Amino acid sequence: MSSSSLRPYAPTPLRLGINIDHVATLRNARGGTAPDPLRAALVAKEAGADIITAHLREDRRHIRDTDMQRLRAECGLPLNMEMAVTDEMTRIALQLLPHAVCLVPERRLEITTEGGLDVIGQFEKIKACVGELQHAGIEVALFIGPDEAQIDAAKKTGCFAIELHTGSYADAGATQGAELKRLQTAAHYAATLGIEVHAGHGLTYDNVSPIAVITPIVELNIGHFLMGEAMFVGMHKSIHHMKHIISVAR
Ligand code: PXP
Repeated sequence: MSSSSLRPYAPTPLRLGINIDHVATLRNARGGTAPDPLRAALVAKEAGADIITAHLREDRRHIRDTDMQRLRAECGLPLNMEMAVTDEMTRIALQLLPHAVCLVPERRLEITTEGGLDVIGQFEKIKACVGELQHAGIEVALFIGPDEAQIDAAKKTGCFAIELHTGSYADAGATQGAELKRLQTAAHYAATLGIEVHAGHGLTYDNVSPIAVITPIVELNIGHFLMGEAMFVGMHKSIHHMKHIISVAR
């Protein structure tokens, strides 16, 4: 058989989780009901998204409890709930029973999730939370930086997955190559420990490809860039439609 007739192995599937938090950010800016995060989730589903990701922050600055309930009941895609390691959030997750939870660090004054969890520093608390959620059948991921010691600690919590924080890579500029190497090494290391590997934060059309080819990574979660891009992809159509409505009315 000539080498040109050999078929390559099928690539490992890569799931795409769409983070819809910022639809709620825009909704809350006016205090009404539109734009509706559930509607965004349904569009994401139609477009081929595999998972809907939403962060119920302690201050409810974007996604609210009722959004989570509607996403869980009405979207039809697996729901990945991002949450802080608190008693309140654990109680909500145990009632909601999303498909997955991603535990993230949360500071009230931060604009977005700024760093990974310190699993080593908060080991007992995180381990207990992972145990409680997974006992209820929820797959738990820990959002961490590409650091071997943190991965070792994550493994010891018994978590199903880690999500590697790609923020430093996305923001790196000249050192992006080195940040990519750290992510590659961490992803392969976690996979050898039998932990599922996800990644996300700051990913865009321009920077996602080198991450998407890291084979141990089986899930990407992307939000802010896609929500911003959606405005430009959709703005022409929405303005054109409004022009049509007002001209018909006149
Ligand atoms: N994954 C996690 C754990 C996050 O906290 C976030 C941001 O909410 C994302 C992925 C998505 O990041 P971005 O909105 O920058 O795409």
